[in-house]
Amino acid sequence: MFKRFNKQEASNDAPAAAPSLVSSPKAAPKPSPDAKATPATLKPEMATGKKIKPAPSKSITVDPKEAKRMDRLLDIRMDLHKRLLESLNLAALDKASEEDLKHEIALIAREGLREMDIVLNTTDQKQLNADLLDEVTGLGPIEVLLRDDTVNDILINGSQQVFVERDGLLELTTVKFKDEKHLMRIIDKIVSAVGRRVDESSPYVDARLADGSRFNAMVPPCAVDGSLVSIRKFSKEKLSIDQLIEFGAFTEAMATYLQAAVSTRLNIIVSGGTGSGKTTMLNALSSFIGDEERIVTIEDTAELQLQQIHIGRMESRPPNVEGKGEVSQRDLLRNALRMRPDRIIVGETRGDEVIDMLQAMNTGHDGSMTTIHANSPRDAISRLENMIAMTGVELPLIASRAQIASAVNLMVQVSRLPDGSRRMVSITEITGMEGEIISMQEIFKFQRTGMDENGKIRGKFVSGGLRSHYTERFREWGYDLPSSIYIDSE
Ligand SMILES: Nc1ncnc2c1ncn2[C@@H]1O[C@H](COP(=O)(O)OP(=O)(O)O)[C@@H](O)[C@H]1O
Ligand SMILES: [Mg+2]
Repeated sequence: MFKRFNKQEASNDAPAAAPSLVSSPKAAPKPSPDAKATPATLKPEMATGKKIKPAPSKSITVDPKEAKRMDRLLDIRMDLHKRLLESLNLAALDKASEEDLKHEIALIAREGLREMDIVLNTTDQKQLNADLLDEVTGLGPIEVLLRDDTVNDILINGSQQVFVERDGLLELTTVKFKDEKHLMRIIDKIVSAVGRRVDESSPYVDARLADGSRFNAMVPPCAVDGSLVSIRKFSKEKLSIDQLIEFGAFTEAMATYLQAAVSTRLNIIVSGGTGSGKTTMLNALSSFIGDEERIVTIEDTAELQLQQIHIGRMESRPPNVEGKGEVSQRDLLRNALRMRPDRIIVGETRGDEVIDMLQAMNTGHDGSMTTIHANSPRDAISRLENMIAMTGVELPLIASRAQIASAVNLMVQVSRLPDGSRRMVSITEITGMEGEIISMQEIFKFQRTGMDENGKIRGKFVSGGLRSHYTERFREWGYDLPSSIYIDSE
């Protein structure tokens, strides 16, 4: 269990209770006098980082006999499904209990097999009945993958290739669709359920499944070799700080530091690649927010599961078929500012909401948090600069940088390493500006030392040997952290 730092009741406890409009040290970023070393600008090679390699794929070799059996079952399933559609009373389908439906399907299947002169053993028969039920009530072949809690993503490249991601690694599955038509039927089933459509004239669609999973499809001719589908499954269980420490995502010392950072209302950006654990980290960090605060969350897909009592959740809305009715994250953010939030959490900053986000961080909404798609803290800064430039607001680069430097206090970089493990690879503070450059100091990082015989990455978390730029602020708020957290063990 991560033992939370017990905040001392400092005599000048005022900052904790003070309204968020009180100016904070970050408003005038100066190198803190008590830092052991002057805040150094990260060396370029450290800051740029390497491009994250795509996770290696783990292919499965299917026994040719087994492959033949599956193909045969798939053929039979398609034939029987046609019969089922003809003979089942589809209107009554919604009302029928699962037991009745199973019974009915088994009857029709047995009948069909007899007519087609096909004999199956009990295992195959059972499998066929289950597959048919999925075909009728669910999403056909991928239904088993949706039910499988170890699967995070489902990636379909045409009818014959279905990949999944488990534990950070991609693997090819034995799941197949009969043909493109079969795949299209399942795609149609999904999108029509949410009132959208996809066809040659509008070949891609983004939708949310009933269970919260994110669904995207691109169909031919834009998808060259058959429809492309990506499903990011909604994970019901968000990982806690304790679990993340247990999984080796970061250390207790880092957690103590982060607790102080969140509690003293630093503005934090979690940066990382796709699926690197940004949302998970944002969710975990938010657990350090107190129950007395009013939190407003803004997301494109409501994923965050904050545990506090006082939360206003908002979700953006894409335009409808006629291109009307869009409510963007920026609209939500602007509205949020009128809702008296103590903290604003934006699930992912990716567009013109960046301006309002930075402004909010600079004007009293301390303790705001967001994620950003970037490969290193430096990269995250350039992303922010680019996003500002893309909004069309005419701001000289140096002014954008000054805006970023005074808004953002802390960057937490997460990464999915090539062995599939997800780790917090860097905690970096923004300490101000040095000339035209935003200065940063890395407080903790994950140092890779090699790879073991199983392909698992070896490494350890090390501290940069620097004391936090915010030490004084932490102390003022009652978080007089022991200096031991900045000293590497062993
Ligand atoms: N440290 C971790 N250890 C193991 N699994 C993790 C870790 N962080 C995230 N995950 C899992 O990885 C998947 C992707 O995480 P998510 O936070 O949604 O990534 P992102 O927001 O960067 O796309 C989720 O299923 C999540 O539960
Ligand atoms: Mg995310």
